[in-house]
Amino acid sequence: MKPPVYLDYNATTPVAPEVADAIEPFLRAHFGNASSSHVYGRRAQEAVAQARAHVAALIGALESEIVFTGCATEANNLAIFGVAKALQKGRRHIITSAIEHPAVMQPCRRLEDDGWDRTTVPVDGNGRADLDALARGLRDDAALVTIMHANNEVGTLQEIAEIANMAHACGAFVHTDAAQSVGKIPVDVGTLGVDLLTIAGHKFYATKGVGALYVRRETPIVPVMVGADHEHGLRPGTENVPAIVGLGEAARLARERQPAMEMQLRRIRDLLHALLAEGAQGLTLNGHPEHRLPNTLNVSFPGVSGRELVHAVENDVAASVGAACHSDTGTVSGVLAAMGIGIERAFGAVRLSVGIYTTEAQVHHAAKALIKRWLELRGPA
Ligand SMILES: Cc1ncc(COP(=O)(O)O)c(C=O)c1O
Repeated sequence: MKPPVYLDYNATTPVAPEVADAIEPFLRAHFGNASSSHVYGRRAQEAVAQARAHVAALIGALESEIVFTGCATEANNLAIFGVAKALQKGRRHIITSAIEHPAVMQPCRRLEDDGWDRTTVPVDGNGRADLDALARGLRDDAALVTIMHANNEVGTLQEIAEIANMAHACGAFVHTDAAQSVGKIPVDVGTLGVDLLTIAGHKFYATKGVGALYVRRETPIVPVMVGADHEHGLRPGTENVPAIVGLGEAARLARERQPAMEMQLRRIRDLLHALLAEGAQGLTLNGHPEHRLPNTLNVSFPGVSGRELVHAVENDVAASVGAACHSDTGTVSGVLAAMGIGIERAFGAVRLSVGIYTTEAQVHHAAKALIKRWLELRGPA
């Protein structure tokens, strides 16, 4: 039996063969500790420096502004707690959006538990943050605005440059969780105007367990974990050289593949959408019709539970219903709920995310299987 078509690239991507090849020597011959001064150490150090240069180039940063971390969650924690701790004497107010990943939402809640003010900016029906609400929240005690670049469930892109302008005018710093956008679309920290930006290796063909935080020079930040002086003193712990080398190679590939990659993703994603819309009448798109990741298609199938549909189709398609969508407990995705999507439509939501290895033939197969199972589950119209 053929393996199911993988349409869950927003959960994680396969490791690119080029990335695996780049990593391999660092699992075997080049095993040195990047802090050692002998030849083994220097080889590892050079490799980390090269990876840093690739990651910096991908997002238009300086090499000295890249801090390697263990994952995007860690980068978000470092950004939020690191800046909060540096600023806590003067400013104790954090602003975020209603559709953040838990890796941002939970650190913000923790600050609130510690006595900080937290403002949560609502989003509209397409998942875009309400900038009027942001303006109302921006008081002169605001320390940090943390709003994601692209949403993991629906793919909606936020107006980060505008958000950064507004925040800076009030003296607040700006972090964006770009775990889903870096490697899929061009991301430039200068254009976005952010002070901190989170990157996740396994969302763009590197391995799991590696991420990075961009920290604009002169941003007030202190380490969250303390130990030795690695990563400009912001992230102690011996560098995971193979994973960092892989992240560097993934960044190099992403840069080389743009803009063709974005067009390819959009074409395949839109083909999938067209096939599904034709076969499943009443299908609705969740997320912004234009300002959305080129690989993400979150659609609601009418009259069925998305969770049941994903389960029914699992031999043909590997997809997801997004986070925390439990039809049995009567709760739906927090993201869709924040977008004001009604409960029935939210129950029918399925997140389909394509990647650079998704083919037209796979998309045809997946669409056929989804429509067939949808018809079976829905019963006679
Ligand atoms: C938007 C966003 N932020 C953060 C994360 C956390 O990434 P990691 O699990 O690699 O720490 C994810 C992963 O799903 C994500 O989609």
